[in-house]
Amino acid sequence: MTTALITGASRGIGAHAARRLAAQGVTVLAGVRNPDTTSFTEETIHPIALDVADDASVAAAVKEVEASFGALDVLVNNAGIAGSEAAPADTGPDEVRQVFETNVVGPVRVTHAFLPLLRAAQRPRLVMVSSQLGSLTLMDDGRWQNWPHLAYPSSKAALNMTAVMYAKTLPEVLVSVVNPGFTATDFNGHRGHQTLDEGTEALVAAVLDTAGPSGRSFSREGVTPW
Ligand SMILES: NC(=O)c1ccc[n+]([C@@H]2O[C@H](COP(=O)([O-])OP(=O)(O)OC[C@H]3O[C@@H](n4cnc5c(N)ncnc54)[C@H](OP(=O)(O)O)[C@@H]3O)[C@@H](O)[C@H]2O)c1
Repeated sequence: MTTALITGASRGIGAHAARRLAAQGVTVLAGVRNPDTTSFTEETIHPIALDVADDASVAAAVKEVEASFGALDVLVNNAGIAGSEAAPADTGPDEVRQVFETNVVGPVRVTHAFLPLLRAAQRPRLVMVSSQLGSLTLMDDGRWQNWPHLAYPSSKAALNMTAVMYAKTLPEVLVSVVNPGFTATDFNGHRGHQTLDEGTEALVAAVLDTAGPSGRSFSREGVTPW
């Protein structure tokens, strides 16, 4: 039995990935801010209260998973926010702080807290849900100039380096970064051109992958440059 905890699983990519993984036999711990409002009916999806921006909430989730499972095979840091669509010149520190708190500090908080349970698993995996907008290469060569805002791309670039540092220093953990692609969810007012099946492809593959390599970034099309 593989256990996978997905943060931000109340809706969108996280909820859809939870359902797909449950259908593949994975026991999914669906991290949500309010477990009372989830609509999961699958027996192998267990909603668990988890606010990635709150130390006490994360600590309580660790205790709950430890008591029920004793170890965690896969942690998926999926919860994320977009921030506003203001121009960089009009974006102040408060907004950047807020986006980084969820998109960067959140994954660090959750990873740090769950690391002992991951290390207790046989083949632990850590999956960071990032974005092609966080790729310096894609931004630099002009392929991704469709999001001229400050906080979100910067936060995903920081998340990418966070993943690289974990990969370099935790040889026992298989670390993957996944880039869903522009997917129709609340995140973008359902403007995304991809379906949820397409947007969860790389994530689902990373959760099921036990071979690696570690410290790489993927979309459903293949390797994404940093
Ligand atoms: N959709 C895209 O086109 C796209 C493209 C590239 C990358 N991504 C990334 O994919 C991930 C999921 O995006 P999505 O499209 O599924 O977005 P979404 O539909 O807006 O869902 C975001 C999820 O994150 C949760 N969340 C936000 N702040 C949280 C917190 N402090 N603690 C716990 N959960 C929190 C939300 O929970 P509540 O329901 O409680 O608010 C919700 O479950 C994000 O990291 C995003 O950056 C998305």
